[in-house]
Amino acid sequence: MISIIGSGLVGTSIAFLCATNALDDILLIDHTKNKALGESLDITSSISSTSKYSIIGTDDYSKLTGSKIIVITASTKTNLKNRTENMSQQVNLIKDIAKKIKEYSPNAIVLIVSNPLDVLTYFFQKEAQIPRFKVIGIASSLDSRRFQYQIANNFCIPQTSITNALVLGEHGDTMVPIFSNVHVDGHFFSISDDKQDVITCNVRNSWKMLRDYQCQSKFGIARNVYDVIDTILNKKEISVPVSIVLEGEYGENNVAMGVPTKINHAGVVEIKNMNFNPSEKNLFKKSSETIKNHIHSI
Ligand code: LAC
Repeated sequence: MISIIGSGLVGTSIAFLCATNALDDILLIDHTKNKALGESLDITSSISSTSKYSIIGTDDYSKLTGSKIIVITASTKTNLKNRTENMSQQVNLIKDIAKKIKEYSPNAIVLIVSNPLDVLTYFFQKEAQIPRFKVIGIASSLDSRRFQYQIANNFCIPQTSITNALVLGEHGDTMVPIFSNVHVDGHFFSISDDKQDVITCNVRNSWKMLRDYQCQSKFGIARNVYDVIDTILNKKEISVPVSIVLEGEYGENNVAMGVPTKINHAGVVEIKNMNFNPSEKNLFKKSSETIKNHIHSI
């Protein structure tokens, strides 16, 4: 069973993808019971008649028992102007949810989607005491897709020709696009400093651009979460950057942040090594300091 906590735009988009692709049974939890019931009833009608799975809505956390995967999309406020707005309320919420998951489904793999992503991944793991490789913050893969799109757009090349375009660090204003490893058609692709500045700015501001059009991001993040759920449930393997509590990797401790990983049915199975150039190393350090400052401010 896939349990999704929060039945807003993001939670329901993830539920819709999982339901229409017949991944597993779905439990949709929301503190407003009628919202969970209504959304799940709507999604029910999208499930193929050949699928053996179903979706139910509830406000009852005890129904989490037996979940293989739990996705947390809950938020104390919508239409945020930046991802750290409402941070202390979000931390309280995630700690509360962590206690419930610890009680009802301590063996699940937990995917964190709520913001501020890295701060919440850190506090969730500490509170729930679930092994760190099973607490996975999903966002750097979305940032990386935005990076890939920006490169393709700026140089009029197909996205399919681009590999190793990763964004690491904070899912926030200090995220770090790693230019030193970008390849096009299998060869290193050199990008001028000016172009790097433009692309970095566009990647960092992608979600703000969405908001300017008066829409909230949902499908991009939903698809990136879906890919990880599919990997875990269908025993696949993918290499994606995700936020995870670090214990010495990349010289970092007491922080969760986006790093390249390998994921399979067991969750994260490897934090991959990657070489940075001196400027990227510096930016990665600044990003970790920003997240740590947020964590210490709580
Ligand atoms: C975004 C949200 C998910 O970047 O933080 O679209």
